[in-house]
Amino acid sequence: MVKQISSEELQTIVRSVPMLSASASRLLQITANPDHDLHEVVSLVKTDANLTARVLKVINSAAFGMLNKITSIDRAVSFLGERVIVSIAIGDCAGNLLEKELVGYAAASGDLWKHDLRAAIAAREVVTQGKAEIRSELAFTAGLLHDIGKALISDYLQGTAPEAIELLTAEDSFDYLEAEKKLIGFDHTIAGYELAKYWQLPEELIEVIRFHHEPGRASEEFKPLVYAVHLGDSIAMMGGFGTGSDSMRYKLDPAYAQYIQITPNILASIMLAVDTEFTKLEESLNDLGE
Ligand SMILES: [Fe+2]
Ligand SMILES: [Fe+2]
Repeated sequence: MVKQISSEELQTIVRSVPMLSASASRLLQITANPDHDLHEVVSLVKTDANLTARVLKVINSAAFGMLNKITSIDRAVSFLGERVIVSIAIGDCAGNLLEKELVGYAAASGDLWKHDLRAAIAAREVVTQGKAEIRSELAFTAGLLHDIGKALISDYLQGTAPEAIELLTAEDSFDYLEAEKKLIGFDHTIAGYELAKYWQLPEELIEVIRFHHEPGRASEEFKPLVYAVHLGDSIAMMGGFGTGSDSMRYKLDPAYAQYIQITPNILASIMLAVDTEFTKLEESLNDLGE
């Protein structure tokens, strides 16, 4: 049996995580504002030399196959789009967390980032193809961060994957959150929520991180977004990109149908789009690490 973590200990764990960089934090604030435009993103990237260099590296990477080298940030941002800029910024400051080997879930290093990236792309596709009334780029960002809590608690769940599965089987439950709660006292949505507050993320992202497995509990105004990520997360797992022992062990809340119109055909089309976009995005972002 592993040790239960008290809420004081959780606060200590959260506070041991480095803060987001000022520009990443600002970028999340800007892009969460429904009235922002791409110029604000461009200006922000220009104030950060490191982000500028990374954006130019990505646009000039083989994945985009540019004929001529791009040196203008304006062109780079409008070509890559907001979601790629957000991925670069988050990958830069939260990369260590997202690349972490999730020992507690028996998942390899990189699995969380891959899962998050696929959930982000899927959430965006869910919004556009499922005609949800939210901004697709915000659904992408929310998808990217939804499981951040797993990186925090994974070490404490080390060796528990078989025990967790046993617990679920014994109690005929289908929800990994229950197992996490039993084993350490709280689940990854609570850990993520505490980190999101500590990072002072925009309210809509905090709601997604907290309620992506229980979207019915989100506040009314954020429900469409939370449901989009809830579905995006499931689609990532259905595509075989989970994070180890917990994959496909969460309930799907059918109330998403109030906000998102998904037919089997649309679902198939979303899954196809996720595969295509993931390959391209992963390849271009991977170049950053070299
Ligand atoms: Fe999750
Ligand atoms: Fe997830």
